[in-house]
Amino acid sequence: MGSLKSFMDQLTYQFSLSNQELKEIAQSFGEEMAKGLGGQPSSLKMLPSYLANPTGKEKGSFLALDFGGTNVRILLVELLGEGKITVTKQKSFPLAGEGYNYMVSTAKELFDFLAQQITQFIDQDKTYYLGHTFSFPFRLEGVNKGILLNWTKEFDVSGVEGQDVMELLHHSLAQKGADNVILAAILNDTVGTQLTAAYQDPQCQIGSIIGTGHNTCYLEKGIIINMESGNFNKLSLTRYDQILNKDSEEPDSQWLEKMASGRYLGEIVRLIMKEMEEQGLLRESYPYHWTEKYSFSSAQMSQILSKKEENILTQVCALVRLRSIQLIAATYLGILEHLGNPVNIAIDGSLYEKMPDYAYLLQQTMQEIYPNPITIKLTKDGSGMGAAIAAALCQNK
Ligand code: GLC
Repeated sequence: MGSLKSFMDQLTYQFSLSNQELKEIAQSFGEEMAKGLGGQPSSLKMLPSYLANPTGKEKGSFLALDFGGTNVRILLVELLGEGKITVTKQKSFPLAGEGYNYMVSTAKELFDFLAQQITQFIDQDKTYYLGHTFSFPFRLEGVNKGILLNWTKEFDVSGVEGQDVMELLHHSLAQKGADNVILAAILNDTVGTQLTAAYQDPQCQIGSIIGTGHNTCYLEKGIIINMESGNFNKLSLTRYDQILNKDSEEPDSQWLEKMASGRYLGEIVRLIMKEMEEQGLLRESYPYHWTEKYSFSSAQMSQILSKKEENILTQVCALVRLRSIQLIAATYLGILEHLGNPVNIAIDGSLYEKMPDYAYLLQQTMQEIYPNPITIKLTKDGSGMGAAIAAALCQNK
């Protein structure tokens, strides 16, 4: 049996990367970008969005559906021009609750449920243009036609992969008689974040989500590209990552996401703590069952980090947080180097917004590895408001 100190030294070695290592990851990220853009096999899908940055002058009232995590949101958004946006009405509801779980269901059950929520939200005698933020990898075949390539974030709804998500939604809405809803645009949440930030700041050319999932988009020759960077796989996995990956819904996909996003960080901590417990290294006792899968969440991790107590669990949480930050920073560096000039980065997502010190440490890491000044800013609600901007940009297409 090894000592606690040697275990922690090993863990620190595995979970903290040097600036040199980050630059190497950035470089291989750049290579994957180039391959994906060139149509060669790559872990980055590099999916064109058909959308460019807005001017900030777009105006009007639009309906937004924000679907991609444990909660769905419907919003009525008013674009006022001059970079100003307000949300006039919204509702949020969970996809899973007492006796139901639409994250693991059939396409019909899921889309009928969404259509029902939309019809309850709107007035029957008004016409709405709807933008749909669909936070999964899909291929566009038109501004309002998106084919789901594969589910991520442990979603498993049968009959949607390979299908046009907007057609499924349209069908369910039509059955409910809601022909006053015009499905104008489908977009990824990173793209929504980018559009929202760019509505106010044209210098913003990278949009990213660090929440339940992780992904980034950027502006390539005037068009926003959804990279699906959560699938980046030129990374070395620790044994904890390997166990997590093997036990996930889609093993061998979304490596970066599984190492860096909110859906998984708590589970990595749990796997480490479980191993320490099995090796008899834990002297302190904690009120958690380290043997039960996914029983420790990233939200709990945030609580632990906010207490700043000096114990092993805090150290483990900090290491897992640090690696998430470093890996994501390395991908941003890869994009900035690909672009060749400094641009601002907009980020939305619960981990970035709520995990203690996450935003600060990300900024600090970027400063260490990228020589030019850039602004990294929280774009709250970007995925919802961005759907309205997309609908405005596409309403006449
Ligand atoms: C997952 C999805 C991606 C989304 C991200 C953040 O990585 O595949 O499309 O942008 O989660 O929600």
